[in-house]
Amino acid sequence: MMAGLIQEGKITHWGISEVTEDYLRRAHAVCPVTAVQNRFSMMARQHAALFPVLEELNVGFVAFSPMANGLLTGAYGKDDKFDPKLDYHSAMPQFAPEAAEQNRELLRVLGILAEEKHATPGQLSLAWMLCKKPYLVPIPGSRKVERMRENAGAADVTLSAAEVEQIDQILDTIPMSAVFGGTAVKSR
Ligand SMILES: NC(=O)c1ccc[n+]([C@@H]2O[C@H](COP(=O)([O-])OP(=O)(O)OC[C@H]3O[C@@H](n4cnc5c(N)ncnc54)[C@H](OP(=O)(O)O)[C@@H]3O)[C@@H](O)[C@H]2O)c1
Repeated sequence: MMAGLIQEGKITHWGISEVTEDYLRRAHAVCPVTAVQNRFSMMARQHAALFPVLEELNVGFVAFSPMANGLLTGAYGKDDKFDPKLDYHSAMPQFAPEAAEQNRELLRVLGILAEEKHATPGQLSLAWMLCKKPYLVPIPGSRKVERMRENAGAADVTLSAAEVEQIDQILDTIPMSAVFGGTAVKSR
């Protein structure tokens, strides 16, 4: 169907969300895929397992929920209450009351790393993935213009390959809470 739409000139590219390697390979064989959109953040790195196949097939990775739904900005604490009827954060384990303590060290270290780069914690968390792979593109979400500007500023934060690797090593061992849509990766 996608190949037909491309032939008719109705679309030029297409992508798939929440993809596994097997699904991507099967889809790509029918009609070349431009990009996939999966969850990826400092707290949910499980889809890094797709990097080799993405490189093999020359497919981009659009990273959704790249700031762990806002947790990695450091803007939310144990006193924040989310209305279960109106706010999806209320069901996410990283915003549960006990998670504040579980993520304290992670946010402390993220704050130090950000300060070293004259960046905010959210920007540092986005820069970490922007500098990890050229085809890894975060799509942070915000309803506020100022935050959108701040998040876009992550593109001006440069991390060397060694710094990205160092952060990954920290993430391998630092304690963190469960996170919506993924679990903390303890070893690679
Ligand atoms: N393909 C899929 O299945 C799928 C699934 C989920 C999400 N997505 C897409 O992924 C994108 C973003 O993901 P997401 O919204 O789930 O998670 P996210 O970008 O990790 O986090 C967004 C949350 O962080 C807050 N935030 C954003 N920038 C901030 C800042 N600078 N300081 C403090 N708080 C900040 C936002 O609140 P405010 O709005 O109040 O600023 C919002 O609650 C969206 O485009 C969404 O449509 C795709």
